[in-house]
Amino acid sequence: MASNLKILFAVSELAGIVKTGGLADVAGALGPVMRKRKQDVRVVMPAYRQALASLTTKVVNVGEAVLNPQCKFGFAVHEAEYDGVPIYLIEHNRYFDRPELYTHRGEGFEDNSERYAFFCKAVLEVCQLQEFQPDIIHCHDWQSALLPYYLKSNESENPFFANTKTVLTIHNGAYQQHTDACMLDAFGIDRKDFHGDAFEDHGQINLLKGGIAFAHKITTVSEQYAKELLTDIGSHGLAHILRQRKQDFSGILNGCDYQLWNPYKDQLIPARFSPKRLAGKQTCKQALQERMSLPVKNKTPLFGLISRLTEQKGFDYLIPALWEFLQHDVQVVLLGSGNQATVVQLKNLARAYPEKCQFHHGYDNELAHWIEAGSDFFLMPSLFEPCGLNQMYSMKYGTLPLVRAVGGLRDSVSGYHETRNKATGFVFDKPEAKDVLECMHLAADVYGNQAVMKQLVSNAMSQSFTWDSAAKEYLQVFRSIF
Ligand code: ADP
Ligand code: GLC
Repeated sequence: MASNLKILFAVSELAGIVKTGGLADVAGALGPVMRKRKQDVRVVMPAYRQALASLTTKVVNVGEAVLNPQCKFGFAVHEAEYDGVPIYLIEHNRYFDRPELYTHRGEGFEDNSERYAFFCKAVLEVCQLQEFQPDIIHCHDWQSALLPYYLKSNESENPFFANTKTVLTIHNGAYQQHTDACMLDAFGIDRKDFHGDAFEDHGQINLLKGGIAFAHKITTVSEQYAKELLTDIGSHGLAHILRQRKQDFSGILNGCDYQLWNPYKDQLIPARFSPKRLAGKQTCKQALQERMSLPVKNKTPLFGLISRLTEQKGFDYLIPALWEFLQHDVQVVLLGSGNQATVVQLKNLARAYPEKCQFHHGYDNELAHWIEAGSDFFLMPSLFEPCGLNQMYSMKYGTLPLVRAVGGLRDSVSGYHETRNKATGFVFDKPEAKDVLECMHLAADVYGNQAVMKQLVSNAMSQSFTWDSAAKEYLQVFRSIF
């Protein structure tokens, strides 16, 4: 096996082009880092309306994807380059020219399985049209989980793919994409592969499960989440299939893109700062308070939060805790979009404590940088968290993360309770209002002790979660297949 691999990332989003969550950050960062390591990495993704609007592309080919004998779809292949990485975008307007990527009014599109089954078939066509013979197709989440199956079942005789292997990375095991079993023929899934050790899940087709069954290797985004995914309670129902693939399954902690998230050179924040020159952090705190219409108080601890508003992120127990916590001399700044009921609850909270709590409903990258830079503490009380990126960003900005001990949060933050001298944040165990509240009070107390705070901030800022070491581990997994 040559040391330089040809790697194709089949992804549904990519930071800088289209993004709904951390998957885009990962796909956007890993490609350039692997290219620096002399790997021929390319990306293939849907040509969403939003992607075509944000990139200059050139149509280089047209092709046809055969979903089943009755269903053939034409598509155009656009080519572009982003951050030094060649990108192929698959244009088929009926599927990808929509106002949002996956949802309409918070509900997944009804034809999501069909859209991404088409995508997976089209990816294999694109490889042939562009004469790019990948050693590895790196699939991500349910959106490209049918690809390993299509490669094994339809292309087993095709010499073009004779040396192509697949790796599936699970960024979030809670999203599996179920579809009625009557769609088997429509998606080109053979009935013999519809059983409990492959696609079948309580009588339905489960795309992620099928991907786990057929990929050569499976990874997830932290070692701790890999362990949780093998347990009945933490696997979102995937434990059975993952236990069968245990030998081929591992966790690789995400890195952090310090080109984008670095207080030393961040051009989005009001002032820059570093571990040795922390004055800029105070300027950022004051600017954040002003921007969010909070009183400017430099001795009051400020807690930030940036999140998709979903059940995963722990709002059900965080919100009752905040009602109590806000009775004290603290400030809380919240940024998020998603679940409507959570939006209403956060608005109510902010309305009740306008001098202490502000909620910005929406998606705002610049404000996210301001919150990371201007807060003293960062809240991540997730019920589960495959990796989590914001706690890593927070540490770099000297903003101490307050996290629940799950998944990647547990792997990346050292709690004040256990490791005082080396602590980089605050960690609690149970997903209960009482526990997160206690932890927030502990953080507020520590805030009053300048020497301890200084030590913790310095510990946090010296942490480094580089993509280079994650890339090295991925390459080891890729090479281990051959
Ligand atoms: P997840 O992928 O589960 O949403 P991560 O912590 O891995 O969680 O990544 C979330 C990413 O999305 C981070 O880069 C975070 O800053 C960003 N993000 C989430 N919600 C918002 C928002 N409302 N505005 C700006 N950025 C957001
Ligand atoms: C998912 C997870 C998050 C992870 C991200 C990138 O969206 O929820 O924990 O950091 O993917 O891998």
